[in-house]
Amino acid sequence: MSKHILITGGAGFIGSHVVRLFVNKYPDYKIVNLDALTYAGNLENLKDIEHAPNYIFEHANILEPDVLQEIFEQHDITDVIHLAAESHVDRSILSPMDFIYTNIVGTVNLLTAAKNYWKDELSKHRFHHVSTDEVYGTLGDTGFFTEETAYSPNSPYSASKASSDHFVRAYGETFHISFVVTNCSNNYGPNHFPEKLIPLFINNIINKKPLPVYGKGENTRDWLYVIDHARAIDLVFHEGRNGEHYNVGGFNEWKNIDLVKLLCKLMDEKLGREAGESEQLITYVKDRPGHDLRYAIDATKINKELGWKPSVTFEEGLSKTIDWYLQNEEWLKHVTSGEYQNYYTEQYSNR
Ligand code: NAD
Ligand code: DAU
Repeated sequence: MSKHILITGGAGFIGSHVVRLFVNKYPDYKIVNLDALTYAGNLENLKDIEHAPNYIFEHANILEPDVLQEIFEQHDITDVIHLAAESHVDRSILSPMDFIYTNIVGTVNLLTAAKNYWKDELSKHRFHHVSTDEVYGTLGDTGFFTEETAYSPNSPYSASKASSDHFVRAYGETFHISFVVTNCSNNYGPNHFPEKLIPLFINNIINKKPLPVYGKGENTRDWLYVIDHARAIDLVFHEGRNGEHYNVGGFNEWKNIDLVKLLCKLMDEKLGREAGESEQLITYVKDRPGHDLRYAIDATKINKELGWKPSVTFEEGLSKTIDWYLQNEEWLKHVTSGEYQNYYTEQYSNR
């Protein structure tokens, strides 16, 4: 049977790569991209596939249950891949309620719409919830997050994602919705909104602006190229076992300060600047409150069960990412005008 997949948040960073992969790889599927086009959503991310015959865009908000119900009926939705979310930790510290509404209430609205539409055939359909490794809290200097690690979220963002994960599980247990959850580490790549570390620092290096490193830059993240995350979602959506979580990670840990120095070096080379020039922009600023020290994913389960592993090395991925931003300065200019400037002032002016 051909699938009619509702992908939420498809105009965002990761969502746009997932939509592109599914539209191109599965011409027999109908792909419905539902997105509210918040500051993070941008249809320019999908220009290359917007006229594909198996692609439809629905400008809608997951906070509107009646609209969701209509969309399920209109497109005869058979499956959901749910990415729509408020996704930035610093914004969750500035305005937690937006995260409670979109990430928790929005997810429950979507689960309810799926349950109502799929009725007594719930086991024939799949709800794939895209979550994060941040739900596990923080690691010390050693160890990894496995699928058995207890949830212990530390920021309003991660608490809202953890809550949404619990609701997905509860709808599975109580109403028998078939679900899978993927918990992924930090993504990077083209179309990443320049509020997050890598694209923000690329943009600031281009513009010779200070690079605000939180605390001492000792925090560690496990970086994965976004297309490898999209490949993992494809595999788990099609082949993952019902009711299971799969951790997805890059086997690629970097202390923030080491990553920032590498970025400076690569950008100096690509921009034809003197070696060491961009490093002078590094500025240590007040730490993020509740800043998780270290994330590191044990991706053994997805590797052993489904054969997934990253296909792009960090050197390759970072180089491609920088090239994309240098070739898409219009995109950068567009997304950093307007509301972005207010956010930037609020977030960084008193640090
Ligand atoms: P993003 O902020 O770039 O995109 C979010 C998208 O959701 C945007 O297109 C936005 O318009 C849309 N959206 C927001 N609120 C909405 C609403 N109420 N109704 C409909 N659409 C709405 O986020 P991202 O970085 O692409 O993350 C996508 C998902 O993956 C999120 O669920 C996030 O928690 C998860 N995740 C992200 C990372 C990462 O490193 N970025 C890692 C692991 C998991
Ligand atoms: O681990 C997965 C998560 O990764 C996702 O669930 C989130 O949606 C995504 O935003 C990301 O969260 P982080 O908080 O790890 O990403 P961010 O890019 O905001 O920060 C990465 C590290 O860099 C973190 O230790 C904070 C630090 N940082 C960040 C910014 C924006 C700075 O030092 N300075 C900055 O200006």
